[in-house]
Amino acid sequence: MGYIYKAAVIGGGTMGGGIAQVISFSGLPVIIKDINQDMVDKGIEAARQVYASRVSKGKMTQNEMDQKMMLISGTTTYEGFDDVDLVIEAVTERMDIKKAVFKELDEVCPASCILTSNTSALSISELGAATKRPDKVIGMHFFNPAPVMKLVEIIPGLETSEDTINDVMEFTSGLRKMPVRVEECAGFLVNRLLMPFFNEAVFAAQEGAASLREIDKAVTDRGMPMGPFFLADMLGVDVCYHVQHILHEEYGTRMAPAKLIDKLYAAKRWGAKTGAGFYVQDGTQDEAFAEKAIAEVQAETGIKGTSFSFERLILPMINEAAYALQEKVASPNDIDIAMMAGAGMADKSGPKGPLALADEMGLDVVVAKLEELQAELGERFRPAPLLKRKVRAGHLGVKTRKGFKEYSGELETV
Ligand SMILES: NC(=O)c1ccc[n+]([C@@H]2O[C@H](COP(=O)([O-])OP(=O)(O)OC[C@H]3O[C@@H](n4cnc5c(N)ncnc54)[C@H](O)[C@@H]3O)[C@@H](O)[C@H]2O)c1
Repeated sequence: MGYIYKAAVIGGGTMGGGIAQVISFSGLPVIIKDINQDMVDKGIEAARQVYASRVSKGKMTQNEMDQKMMLISGTTTYEGFDDVDLVIEAVTERMDIKKAVFKELDEVCPASCILTSNTSALSISELGAATKRPDKVIGMHFFNPAPVMKLVEIIPGLETSEDTINDVMEFTSGLRKMPVRVEECAGFLVNRLLMPFFNEAVFAAQEGAASLREIDKAVTDRGMPMGPFFLADMLGVDVCYHVQHILHEEYGTRMAPAKLIDKLYAAKRWGAKTGAGFYVQDGTQDEAFAEKAIAEVQAETGIKGTSFSFERLILPMINEAAYALQEKVASPNDIDIAMMAGAGMADKSGPKGPLALADEMGLDVVVAKLEELQAELGERFRPAPLLKRKVRAGHLGVKTRKGFKEYSGELETV
């Protein structure tokens, strides 16, 4: 079991600066390395901003902030990498760039150093294979903004050793984050489960089942922190587009993107970053774009006036959670924890993951509703085999004290 005394972050962009702040906050020295001095400075400045906000809220003193900032250094070379214990790569999401970085890291870092990647979608096993230490290469997927979001998905590659997994789980807990081990699969856990929910919201909108605002409201009315379109505009419609296409490529038809996403993407309606996405953000762009695009999609597909319900959105997420469970991507508890901490899943009673929600609905009800939607809307709603198996076994959820999870207490006599 190794110990992490010094860390480095590669890339001073959106994620790198925040991750460096998180590491320094835990008391460890951290180097930010970028190819571009401006980005090194931006990364350090981003960390400073997080601390400055804590100081202004009275959560820390100026002196404490200065101490923490002294732990962060910046470089455009690999100076200081000869004694780092763990590196988090957060460079541009391109396999060729990341592989080159991993090859360089393999040369300059000590043989004992763990190399991690914050990639959202690329193969950890492939990155490991680019080095002479695939046993020490692992995914560490932070969420944006890194200083705020508690979840970190820990993704071992095919060759990653148990020692590396344990060290990185412990290191992540030491950062006051919540590590969840996820077996390598497209979208890992949170994006894999969140996207079918978002994609179905887009289907519902493009088919005129409900308006964008009605759909967002139906979601927040159930206790979730924000609606799918509001969220997509914030995360970037371009990011959602890319992730949805990767999932489609990997999992097939049930993940086929709704056409409206492609239309928004092609028109650079990427959300807050371009001034407009599903909604108009800055008032200078075409307010009626989404409506026109929806009419176009309806003319192209001939599908309109389908039914809307909250279940239509949440069931694809529950179904995908069942697929992930079936593939042993994570445990039932970890799936719910990841969705609560990484995607804000909740109902009116507070945070609640999709499997707990399914157990409350009753797995027999979940399967029956999925089959109804399959008949109305298509194959993407076909229930996952594990769901049907559980129903056949009489594991129906809270009402039988056994579903995805186990519940204590007497069975109610009905
Ligand atoms: N932005 C998000 O919401 C988010 C969330 C989770 C994970 N991620 C992942 O984190 C990674 C970084 O994303 P980001 O949004 O911070 O990107 P970004 O574009 O904001 O920053 C990337 C940085 O990498 C630097 N860079 C490029 N090539 C480099 C090299 N060879 N060596 C050193 N630095 C190099 C760039 O100069 C830039 O500063 C990606 O893999 C992305 O998928 C992003």
